[in-house]
Amino acid sequence: MQKNVLILDFGSQYTQLIARRVRELNIYCEIHPYNKIPTDLSTFKATILSGSPFSVRGENAPHPDLSQIKGKMPMLAVCYGAQYLAHFKGGKVEPSETREYGRANLSVIKDKEALFEGITENSQVWMSHSDTIKELPENSIRLASTADVLNAAYRIDGEETFAIQFHPEVYHSTDGKQLLENFLVKIAGVEQSWTPGKFVDLTVADLKAKIGNEKVVLGLSGGVDSSVAAMLLHKAIGENLYCIFVNNGLLRKNEFETVLDRYKDMGLNVKGVDASARFLDVLAGISDPEQKRKKIGNTFIEVFDDEAHLIKEVTYLAQGTIYPDVIESVSVNGGPSATIKSHHNVGGLPDFMKLKIVEPLKMLFKDEVRRVGAEMEMPKELLGRHPFPGPGLAIRILGDITAEKVRILQEVDHVFIQGLKDWNLYDKVWQAGAILLPVQSVGVMGDERTYEQVVALRAVESTDGMTADWVNLPYEFLQKTSNTIINRVKGVNRVVYDISSKPPATIEWE
Ligand code: XMP
Repeated sequence: MQKNVLILDFGSQYTQLIARRVRELNIYCEIHPYNKIPTDLSTFKATILSGSPFSVRGENAPHPDLSQIKGKMPMLAVCYGAQYLAHFKGGKVEPSETREYGRANLSVIKDKEALFEGITENSQVWMSHSDTIKELPENSIRLASTADVLNAAYRIDGEETFAIQFHPEVYHSTDGKQLLENFLVKIAGVEQSWTPGKFVDLTVADLKAKIGNEKVVLGLSGGVDSSVAAMLLHKAIGENLYCIFVNNGLLRKNEFETVLDRYKDMGLNVKGVDASARFLDVLAGISDPEQKRKKIGNTFIEVFDDEAHLIKEVTYLAQGTIYPDVIESVSVNGGPSATIKSHHNVGGLPDFMKLKIVEPLKMLFKDEVRRVGAEMEMPKELLGRHPFPGPGLAIRILGDITAEKVRILQEVDHVFIQGLKDWNLYDKVWQAGAILLPVQSVGVMGDERTYEQVVALRAVESTDGMTADWVNLPYEFLQKTSNTIINRVKGVNRVVYDISSKPPATIEWE
């Protein structure tokens, strides 16, 4: 795979954002922890140093040896990176006296600098630092200041080394993308050739070469990642990709049948396995959310393994793991040691399967996965689907799970989701669903007093699920949806709408 830009991570909360902005410029990049600099640097054409929660003067601050990189290829040092370059080369980094968080305006004092081409005077930049560079390092030239930060940007004379105190990667730095493009394209001469089409071509060729005539098994979830991974493998090895789509009985209404048909239409060699009864059996009487997750996870592995054993001589297991799942993150609280984020897709494989792993999406961000799917002309309904948790409706039925509760929730969820689609609201919402509460409330229908279930509706906007806010859905829509649910779904007499943000609430109720 091509390698162009190396991003050295010093533990900043924005490191992934740097990578995303670089990829948006159609440039391939990789994030590596500052203490694991790749030994082979020959394919990297430029380096970006990230920010950090550390102070360069702090005891455990990252102080890597950059001698193989600095001055040998173009370098852009952001925030902590800029301070680090100053600190050991005759500059002075000290706690700032003025507030240096949030927006600031840049006055570009050196014109004709390639780094600032196309960036206007007073351009808004985003600051987030408590130390400041009081004196520049030796042989450096100040390029820009803000009202509070004298040394907002500098470069080292005789090298293609640039340093900036602000964060070009955040959206609030209005010309940040332009600055990154100036550095990467104009200064470092990196090619902007990282496109979805190119990714598909390279990946399919790689997969063909790697897998040859061997067989691959892949578990489809109905979600975007596993589907796009399947399509890439299908292009590479055709019928030798064996897809398994398990119905755990906790999917949305008609989901199993609809999605299975869609997979078949896409030409995938897919087997649908209806294990609903097995899952419901295992879950009987269990109310604890983590227990539910564990049981569902284990049962899935058993069902999947039974099915995988039916395929003769399979050697690979494919997974839809994506980049945020595998990026090694620099640990901030546990000192400078690098740790790997734990995630259900990473390391959670049963030993007994002993298959080699293939992960065609492991260098892509979620939005890139969607673009790659669109490039392969996969159905829009599949690529635009809301995220849906692996344990499915089990964690939206509070308390124990029965077939009847699943049925009720599927009906309620169906009215809600179909309504969002009919009202053109589905694509404006990041995730939506219904929750069956373990409470009954009094109602009246006709002349009859009722005592039935309460359901909650939840719709959130988010970019990555880490933080989220409830969506201000039109009252008319909520009114109509509530009426339809109560009239149509037997067993429900009350509907509430969840107006909690994350944090402090979570998206799911369990
Ligand atoms: P929370 O509830 O933690 O959810 O705010 C954040 C995102 O993660 C999804 N989620 C899960 N996905 N297995 C999954 O595959 C799980 O056990 C699980 N729990 C939560 C949730 O739907 C939301 O998108």
